[in-house]
Amino acid sequence: MKSQILTAIEQFQIDTDLGLSSSPAYLRPKYFYDEEGSKIFQEIMNMPEYYLTDAEIEIFELNSKKIIEHISLTYDEILLLELGSGDGIKTEIFIKSCIESQLQLKYIPIDISSDILDELKAKFKINHPEIEIDARVGDYFQVLESLKQESEYKNVPKLVLFLGSNVGNFSNQETNQFIEHLKNILDPKDFFLIGFDLKKSPSVILPAYDDPRGITRRFNFNHLLRINRELNGNFDINKFDHHVSYDPLSGEVKSYLLANTNSTVVIGSIDKVFNFNKWDSIYMECSRKYSISDMEKVASDHGFQVLENYFDRNQYFCNSLWIRK
Ligand SMILES: C[S@@+](CC[C@H](N)C(=O)[O-])C[C@H]1O[C@@H](n2cnc3c(N)ncnc32)[C@H](O)[C@@H]1O
Repeated sequence: MKSQILTAIEQFQIDTDLGLSSSPAYLRPKYFYDEEGSKIFQEIMNMPEYYLTDAEIEIFELNSKKIIEHISLTYDEILLLELGSGDGIKTEIFIKSCIESQLQLKYIPIDISSDILDELKAKFKINHPEIEIDARVGDYFQVLESLKQESEYKNVPKLVLFLGSNVGNFSNQETNQFIEHLKNILDPKDFFLIGFDLKKSPSVILPAYDDPRGITRRFNFNHLLRINRELNGNFDINKFDHHVSYDPLSGEVKSYLLANTNSTVVIGSIDKVFNFNKWDSIYMECSRKYSISDMEKVASDHGFQVLENYFDRNQYFCNSLWIRK
């Protein structure tokens, strides 16, 4: 049987149908990031409550040179691949350090949102015209698999970045599949720098996902509005409340939209009707917090060696540098 390549909109239809038909209902977080969602996420990164960005910026300011030293021991040139780059705000700090340390690089930011990649390219063109950028729009592994087929990128030393606690959005099973897949794509002695948000007081964690100005609430509702825009849906966001919880045992922050009344939603492009009873939930996103031992277990379970862990001054966040064994 021929494998069928789906368009982005067909995949969005299938995933939305699957998620809303499940019990309990869920939506996949990768669809947060249309043009509007990417803009709202930039607002989230600027919120005082969203400690993750400041912590990671501090880590790069304090440690970029140390990360580069590990790489420069073996290589003077590297392919810098970034999974879910967003606007590359932290990567820019690292790249400035690479330029100062004369580590040659080519930068391949990969993101599902073409709008945010356009913004990244425009910014780098002004700030770092000397850096060669080959931005790729698409899903992480679809792009990585296609890069693997390109002769230009075969047997070239790589540093893969996966920043901003993107890994926290995965379930344990998805994390294992993701890291295993990455191991199979990388060559021995390739590097991987991954961000983990660490377990800490719920009083610090919760406002980052449920802020008093309602920016995170808007981010979640934008997913429903995107379904209205792109799949001809008729969600009424006033009929849902945003709710966030933190479980200190599992380290999971979970975001939900809860129906505050009975409602019926029609999604025209998939010809489906979904009924919500009062207090039914739609599970929107998990953002998992890690302990150091959780993190190191993920590395060792999947053929990576931890070279060094880097922390911000508050010890809120960790960027962990791994090497593929
Ligand atoms: C939480 S933001 C983090 C952005 C950036 N890494 C940072 O730390 O500031 C997640 C980014 O990953 C992208 N993304 C989410 N799921 C993706 C997927 N499956 N494939 C490619 N990009 C994805 C989103 O568009 C978004 O820009």
